[in-house]
Amino acid sequence: MREFSLIYLNGIRKEVRGIEALLMLGDWLRKEVGLTGTKIVCAEGDCGACTVLRAFPQGKSNSIQFEAINSCITTVAQMDGSHLVTVEGIQNGDELSPVQKAMRECHGSQCGYCTPGFVMALTGALEKHQSLDAKTACNYLTGNLCRCTGYQPIIEAALSAKQSEDHSVSKRYLKKEATSELIQKQRDSVLIKNGFSTFFAPATLEEAVHFASENPGFKVIGAATDLGVQTNKGKPLPKNLLSLHLISELYEVRKENKRIMVGARVTLSQLRREVEKTNPEFARFLNLFASPQIKNAATLVGNIANASPIGDTLPFLLVSRGKVHAVSIEDGAVKRREISFPDLFLGYKKLALEPSEIITHVSFDETSQNQILKIYKVSQRKDLDISTVSGAFLLKTVSQGTGKKIEEARLAFGGVAATPVRLPEAEKALQGKVLDSKLIQEVSELIGKTIAPQTDLRGSKTYRKVLAMNLFKRYGREVLHG
Ligand SMILES: Cc1cc2nc3c(=O)[nH]c(=O)nc-3n(C[C@H](O)[C@H](O)[C@H](O)COP(=O)(O)OP(=O)(O)OC[C@H]3O[C@@H](n4cnc5c(N)ncnc54)[C@H](O)[C@@H]3O)c2cc1C
Ligand code: FES
Ligand code: FES
Repeated sequence: MREFSLIYLNGIRKEVRGIEALLMLGDWLRKEVGLTGTKIVCAEGDCGACTVLRAFPQGKSNSIQFEAINSCITTVAQMDGSHLVTVEGIQNGDELSPVQKAMRECHGSQCGYCTPGFVMALTGALEKHQSLDAKTACNYLTGNLCRCTGYQPIIEAALSAKQSEDHSVSKRYLKKEATSELIQKQRDSVLIKNGFSTFFAPATLEEAVHFASENPGFKVIGAATDLGVQTNKGKPLPKNLLSLHLISELYEVRKENKRIMVGARVTLSQLRREVEKTNPEFARFLNLFASPQIKNAATLVGNIANASPIGDTLPFLLVSRGKVHAVSIEDGAVKRREISFPDLFLGYKKLALEPSEIITHVSFDETSQNQILKIYKVSQRKDLDISTVSGAFLLKTVSQGTGKKIEEARLAFGGVAATPVRLPEAEKALQGKVLDSKLIQEVSELIGKTIAPQTDLRGSKTYRKVLAMNLFKRYGREVLHG
């Protein structure tokens, strides 16, 4: 058992213990290590000023690559087993990195507060692409805000920066010896206490379920993109935190009988890459989820277990026959159970999980050739925003004359009730019919009569109702006219 989080920070080995380990990474970098280049501005994952690069040897294959994450909403303890690179680590000797040089030459910085975040996000992008076109650069920068220069000079810098061997952070920092030690240390469970909270990262699932049964009220900590925001807003960290980051089987995405099985540690970025062929519409939709920094850390399981009625992946999981796979302990042995999606949601933020249950996997259907699936999200701005209403619609059709006869219909919405919902009445109204404009209108009106959304800051109940009806109309028209 280790009592510390092991990190290689800009190539320097660090064992972080006790109170320091349960600080937010950004605060620790600035206040404890003195690396003040990383800025904390929003402390909510929204602005990217705190971006650092993280590489973690993960899963059974120990695959490893640097990716940008937000350091303001993750604890140091969660970084156990990682290489981390901050803005101080990208200059090589006296020579600025290609991104730093380009930002200077293109005048991409004024007040400079956001600059380290932009530089790190672009450095992460250049680790994957040798150079960037405008679309790729903008995608990598959706998680970064600059309030004073405007974005044009920053995009120009992104377009002119080229990766150089001497500055590649992978080449400079992924040293064999250090990575081997990180991998080897993954075999030891970690227990860190700070006087108030306990952070436990077991090396096996058996240890995890024992901890869960012995510590009522424990919380699994995924990437903490939800939990970390709550903590920064003043809610203390839960007393007993359970991190599953050392359990290699939970990093897997595998295909089983036309279903996709996703481990609890799989990030949304990894998921997007893995389901591009099996669930292309879901992969496309994940592009609209948060920012690269959030997706490089946040898990699919966290999005589900957070139990928000506007969790973006939930309508898709409802129409794709999603299930969660949970474990707990019974009579000293590991007990496994599956819960199907409609049964998972009991009420606002309330799931049908036993207090000591941990989700290990989520599974869902591969999208088949004869299914027409579309997923929509309406939010106040296109990128990096939470949904007001979201919808996933799936029709299985057969050709009939010149039309399409519906064999099966599944419709689901987020943001129109206390939980994400399927709409059985509207589904029944579509079943066995040939899709045409009249049917689309009728079903849209039925949707309006069936749902009873609430008014909140994101939209009134009337607005949400109209959005839901219009999303279905849009889907219907896209199915009819392409
Ligand atoms: C800037 C920003 C943008 C965001 N954008 C979006 C967005 O566009 N769409 C969207 O839907 N969400 C968004 N979110 C919310 C959040 O990123 C997602 O819900 C994310 O998927 C949560 O994953 P996580 O691993 O960080 O969960 P965590 O914060 O670690 O955990 C969330 C909850 O799940 C529980 N949990 C985690 N793993 C398990 C497990 N294995 N078993 C049981 N319980 C578990 C935790 O105890 C906690 O209650 C955003 C958040 C931020 C900060
Ligand atoms: S400080 Fe804004 S995302 Fe971290
Ligand atoms: S230079 Fe980005 S906010 Fe000022």
